[in-house]
Amino acid sequence: MTVSRHRYGEYDTSYLAAGGMDGLRHLTEQFYQFLDTLPEAAGVRAMYPEDTTESAERLACFLSGWLGGPALYREKYGEIVIPSFHRQWTIDASARDAWLQCMQLAVDQQSYAPAFKQYLMEQLSVPAERCRNSR
Ligand code: HEM
Repeated sequence: MTVSRHRYGEYDTSYLAAGGMDGLRHLTEQFYQFLDTLPEAAGVRAMYPEDTTESAERLACFLSGWLGGPALYREKYGEIVIPSFHRQWTIDASARDAWLQCMQLAVDQQSYAPAFKQYLMEQLSVPAERCRNSR
């Protein structure tokens, strides 16, 4: 992992701590593997298309810009506002938690610094809660 003098959230520190695009692709592929297999996530899995290859790539591109790296999502797919994009699905607290649990399991598989794992999950819990649109 690339070491930076800056704090997570500054410049591209988080993007580098996540291993750049290779690291983010790895992370999102593992996220979708947990989404496929975790029984608690079955309801959330049903919201996604059968083949999630493109979904994983779009999430990796989004995370790149969101973590201070290249704004690949905007370049490739255009603007996205995460909470309003997710209004097409009913996302309650248990769906939010299942999504975060799959992400936690995927993050745990990565060779990230423990402090970055914690930081990343704290950061992701903010948009996850903003995607919740039902109790
Ligand atoms: C809270 C629970 C969440 C649920 C249930 C959920 C569900 C979904 C679903 C069903 C899709 C469509 C996938 C597809 O058609 O390929 C999607 C796409 C996406 N989600 Fe989420 N999501 C959640 C949280 C988040 C969070 C926290 C983020 C950002 C950090 C996020 C970022 C994205 C992105 C970037 C896409 C791809 C958009 C596109 O199709 O171009 N999601 N999500």
